[in-house]
Amino acid sequence: MKNEWNRIAYCDAAEPWQLGFQDAATPMMQGIIDLHHDIMFFLVIIIIFVLWMLVRVLWHFNYKRNPIPERIVHGTTIEIIWTIIPSIILMFIAIPSFALLYSMDEVVDPAITIKAIGHQWYWSYEYSDYNTSDEESLAFDSYMIAEDDLELGQLRLLEVDNRVVVPAKTHLRFIITSADVLHSWAVPSLGVKCDAVPGRLNQTSIFIKREGVYYGQCSEICGTNHAFMPIVVEAVSLDDYVSWVSNKLD
Ligand code: CUA
Repeated sequence: MKNEWNRIAYCDAAEPWQLGFQDAATPMMQGIIDLHHDIMFFLVIIIIFVLWMLVRVLWHFNYKRNPIPERIVHGTTIEIIWTIIPSIILMFIAIPSFALLYSMDEVVDPAITIKAIGHQWYWSYEYSDYNTSDEESLAFDSYMIAEDDLELGQLRLLEVDNRVVVPAKTHLRFIITSADVLHSWAVPSLGVKCDAVPGRLNQTSIFIKREGVYYGQCSEICGTNHAFMPIVVEAVSLDDYVSWVSNKLD
């Protein structure tokens, strides 16, 4: 397959004992990772500072070392300091957080709209842009490949029979819903986790920066086969996408 190199170079699927993020394929996921690192900076400083204070308190206020306790219970200066400084830190966390949150809400003039519908227990997809008057439409189901049917190199519990093929470097709109219970359409590398709610359409926009195969899973407990309805998005060049669509429409 053409995208085999991406699988080697990038981490676009969950790995055994993975601790960090999968590699970002969208600006949104890049933003999420950057925000995580931003917050981690403050987190590490705060943890070290608080731990240091706890150790100092245990040391200085030990009964043997300090048998008669100090009577001071109030100090205006220190109270102003320990209110102002944390609120400044919270500002430094809140500003990039809100910037990211609101930018994720933005739907940038999409070229293609794809509808993902959760079912117990598979996903189905509709490419409504290609609907014609004679009721021709591009729609298909996407089932997990059972362990016995896997070919060498395929990922267990992640591979599907029909992938969601989309063009890379194109603004996509995903409309997500469900036909039965709550599901959640989630692909880590794309930075998407969107609830699939029966009777409701949720919208998210995706811009995939590079060609590749991106793996995700249903992320809302939806029944016994919740773990067996994975998601595979294959981002290809625009030419390959156009020929894929025309093949599907035949
Ligand atoms: Cu569908 Cu969990």
